[in-house]
Amino acid sequence: MKATLLIALLALASPFAHAGGDAAAGAQKTKVCTACHGADFNTPISADIPRLAGQHEDYLARALTDYKSGARKNAVMDGQAAALSAQDIEDAAAYISGLSGKLKIMPLQRLVR
Ligand code: HEC
Repeated sequence: MKATLLIALLALASPFAHAGGDAAAGAQKTKVCTACHGADFNTPISADIPRLAGQHEDYLARALTDYKSGARKNAVMDGQAAALSAQDIEDAAAYISGLSGKLKIMPLQRLVR
């Protein structure tokens, strides 16, 4: 009886033990994003679109959350993030952060227009 109760409690607790993003789900949910960020998230289609592969998971989640809330504004990404739930954001961040890429700091001349 005690063992059954323990197993039931462990089963209930397990989703919390794995709190955070599900990379496999993130791979499915981010297919639309590859149109701009590249199939591998490392080959964006133009120079004003950032590489994301290998970026820190918490940075990605924060950026997407900020676009969604309006704390960060961008004409393109606001709409993309608006369609994502909090779980979608966690899953996307888990997937993209696990990819290998060549992240670099943006050259200053791209900031000065
Ligand atoms: C139509 C093109 C396009 C699509 C589709 C798109 N993005 Fe973006 N993304 C951009 C651009 C442009 C930026 C740079 C915006 C800025 O300067 O804030 C960006 C920025 C980002 C950033 C911030 C990167 C950083 O270094 O701060 C993240 C994270 C991101 N996109 C994730 C996604 C995800 C996840 C999806 C799919 C749900 C997606 N994007 C779909 C064009 C796109």
